[in-house]
Amino acid sequence: MLLKSKHLLGIDDLDKEDIKIILKLSESFKEVLLRPIKKVPTLRGRTIVNLFLEPSTRTRTSFELAAKRLSADVINIGSATSAISKGESLKDTAKTLEALKVDAIVIRHRFPGAPHFLSKLADFSVINAGDGGHEHPTQALLDIFSIIEKKGTVKGLKILIVGDILHSRVARSNILALIKLGAEIVLVAPPTLMPGEIEKLGVKVEFDFDKALKGADIIYLLRLQMERQTECYIPSLREYTSLYGLNLKRVKKAKDDVIIMHPGPINRGIEISADV
Ligand code: CP
Repeated sequence: MLLKSKHLLGIDDLDKEDIKIILKLSESFKEVLLRPIKKVPTLRGRTIVNLFLEPSTRTRTSFELAAKRLSADVINIGSATSAISKGESLKDTAKTLEALKVDAIVIRHRFPGAPHFLSKLADFSVINAGDGGHEHPTQALLDIFSIIEKKGTVKGLKILIVGDILHSRVARSNILALIKLGAEIVLVAPPTLMPGEIEKLGVKVEFDFDKALKGADIIYLLRLQMERQTECYIPSLREYTSLYGLNLKRVKKAKDDVIIMHPGPINRGIEISADV
């Protein structure tokens, strides 16, 4: 079971076999979490840096816990508390970490391609924990792991991805991964939040949420990303919620055993109503 690269920069670089290897390994790691002592020696003697230069709760905590449970030594670096706040470049930070003999860097950065740049600077492995609006590969791998746990497979499932597709790295990584594994993807968004020519990725596009819901196995809601929106893409939040928010009435239009997913953080009451 060998991956083709020592980096995880994006789903785009993985083939179906790579994805299957990671999902298989995840099964055994999940079993470790069910034990009273959640620790194995797999990464003993290795040093991992979590370089999170954008805010994160879920991803940063998950990476830190995963590294600790695999017995690695873990260092957390954030933008406010590092020399990056004094103007140090990513290249100089990387060279410093290389000199300190770091084995792997998990990076979240607001610029698309930052992990790719980092991977060319030194000998350590790089894992992309979200780069701007580009990719969030580990979110997609986790989502697929969860879907397979509930449904047994992703092949042939009708999966709606709903909301701010334009700014979503989560949507992009999920689309790339789910298409590789044979799912039917329907993207649902207002026209202003739907990227042009996205159909070229092999997805269907639908602007009417109610129509798209028929026969859906999975409804995957995306967060409306206010921080990445430099222009006004929607007339009002109320209109967005009325047309694209998931409420109980809409859930009933999907399959009875539909799964509802959201990567978090949620804008409660906007993408998804409290009763759902
Ligand atoms: N889903 C996700 O990436 O959440 P965080 O931004 O909290 O890491």
